[in-house]
Amino acid sequence: MKSSPNLPKKVKIVEVGPRDGLQNEKEFVPIEIKVELINQLSNAGFPNIEAASFVSPKWIPQMAGSAEVMATIARKSGIIYSALTPNMKGYEDALAAKTDEIVIFSAASEVFAQKNINCSIAESVERFIPVVNAAKRDGIRVRGSISCSFGCPYQGLVEPRQVAEVVKRMMDLGCDEIDIADTIGVGTPGEVAAVFEEILAFAPKELFSGHFHDTYGQSLANIYAAMEMGISIFHSSIAGLGGCPYAKGATGNVATEDVLYMLKGLSIETGIDFDAAVNIGEYITKTIGKPNASRAGRAITAKKSTGD
Ligand code: HMG
Ligand code: MG
Repeated sequence: MKSSPNLPKKVKIVEVGPRDGLQNEKEFVPIEIKVELINQLSNAGFPNIEAASFVSPKWIPQMAGSAEVMATIARKSGIIYSALTPNMKGYEDALAAKTDEIVIFSAASEVFAQKNINCSIAESVERFIPVVNAAKRDGIRVRGSISCSFGCPYQGLVEPRQVAEVVKRMMDLGCDEIDIADTIGVGTPGEVAAVFEEILAFAPKELFSGHFHDTYGQSLANIYAAMEMGISIFHSSIAGLGGCPYAKGATGNVATEDVLYMLKGLSIETGIDFDAAVNIGEYITKTIGKPNASRAGRAITAKKSTGD
């Protein structure tokens, strides 16, 4: 098996299914199912699980009960359990829930920031200052997420320099990791290369992750393009669950099983049990009555059921 010498030997997968995947579900997913999902992911060797979101339940009703989820999961040492915190209220709840990593989130598009967090990009950064200061004081890791880095459902085109501006603000805040997010899955590999080229001109590659939704079927190619630029952290959602409540028509993140299948084929290490991930994708989709959007997951499950 041959892989490009430019590709990383090891990749960190951040499993966002319990948060990004489930947040868009119309029917409330009971706490015990969320907990069971996270526990199964922990047992399968995922190093970082986005488990909760301490946002306003008026905005995202599905994430109500995040404190209970965090209190009930069976934590494994070494695993980072992350949660979204848009403001100090979210931070205080995340701290009380013993969150290992908080996620502050803004956008490269002004309109999207308004729709998603009800403020401008500059206001969001102001709002994050006390949140990040508190997290640093409390020894909690901070991740910054930049939505619409490759296009916005309202504004359309987003230029790489707009992403770079928000990256600089997140770096000034003191983020330990920064997600370059394709919220609506419109980016293509050339655009991924262009955005990373822009930001890697002033920041280290280890700081960034790729968060690709799969709306236009580009995310595996986008991950490959990002790996060629030296990026080695990627977000994915088990069974490709998800969408975006503020981006109509957007599908879930790239399916974890599909990413693992590709990385396995490239001999890139993740530490995650692929077969267990396939089973988890089947478990959660059957339990909540959704189609399994992972091509690899469906193929392996079909193969098993026919005994081939
Ligand atoms: P606002 O209405 O401007 O805020 O919302 P507010 O301060 O006026 O508060 C309104 C009400 O919400 C108040 O309650 C607050 O107490 C409450 P009321 O007095 O009316 O009863 N509230 C809270 N409750 C619980 N937890 C909190 C909290 N904050 C206020 N933390 C706000 C501003 C930021 C709160 C709101 O816009 C919000 O919660 N937005 C979250 C939107 C969201 O979660 N979007 C999805 C996640 S982002 C994403 O998916 C993108 C990502 O995956 C990357 C990508 O793909 O692009 C990360
Ligand atoms: Mg997302």
